[in-house]
Amino acid sequence: MEIIRTTSRLSSLTKEAKAAGKVVGLVPTMGALHAGHLSLIQRARKECEYVVVSVFVNPTQFNNANDLKTYPRTEDADCELLRGAGVDIAFIPSVEEIYPEPDTRIFDLGEVANVMEGPMRPGHFNGVAQIVSKLFAMVNPDKAYFGEKDFQQIAVIRRMVEICGFDIEIVDCPIKREDDGLALSSRNVRLTPENRAIAPMIYKTLCESVAYAKSHTVDETRKMVIDNLNAVDGFEVEYYEIVDPITMQPIHEWKESVNGAPHGCITVYCGEVRLIDNIKY
Ligand code: PAF
Repeated sequence: MEIIRTTSRLSSLTKEAKAAGKVVGLVPTMGALHAGHLSLIQRARKECEYVVVSVFVNPTQFNNANDLKTYPRTEDADCELLRGAGVDIAFIPSVEEIYPEPDTRIFDLGEVANVMEGPMRPGHFNGVAQIVSKLFAMVNPDKAYFGEKDFQQIAVIRRMVEICGFDIEIVDCPIKREDDGLALSSRNVRLTPENRAIAPMIYKTLCESVAYAKSHTVDETRKMVIDNLNAVDGFEVEYYEIVDPITMQPIHEWKESVNGAPHGCITVYCGEVRLIDNIKY
């Protein structure tokens, strides 16, 4: 595995790989790698002949300075994990390398970005579109891998791909969970032991809501999830929405859609830590 810090070296190596007829896969990450990332990398390794993993804590997608400051950074451990996973390139650039000048692009992300994380984290999705479009332009991968934990982010990235006209397959990969159901996240290391003890109740409640939904309306089901979690000392639900899986727009009736089964998307503060999760109905 080669560790690369410059965009020029990254582009020239990936160009070579493509010229040699290799299928190139990209796994964009912000580091603090865990088994969830590893599952994306393993999938990429299976489907591609040349695998690039980027590790970059992208400042333009943070709308909270403290969140950016406290985001875990574990480069040595990340490199060890990437080496063990048989990655070809670990791309670990500096902020200056990626943004020699401020990125002033504003993406017209439309309806997929105007709900849930969109209004809660103004500028977040535009920042995601900025960094992912830069990585796509540098690597020009055949396939790029994203985790379904960030369910809305995948819809936003698909929209960015459409806007920019990239010919890249977006591969969404299932959420990885701890044995007790907590969705793996780099932010989990910031949970106190007390927070960690209650955190699995998020997924447990989402699972219970799937059974509850069979005899209740969408609005009743949504309310059940919000009320049950808010009743737990240590949780504060920011939002819970049951949405169309493609448009991300909240639905109010359980009806079949050509877009597939509705998805419930939640953000909960568990103590100081903002956790997200989702479930299919
Ligand atoms: O999901 C993430 O870790 C980030 O949003 C991504 C896609 C790597 C862009 O910085």
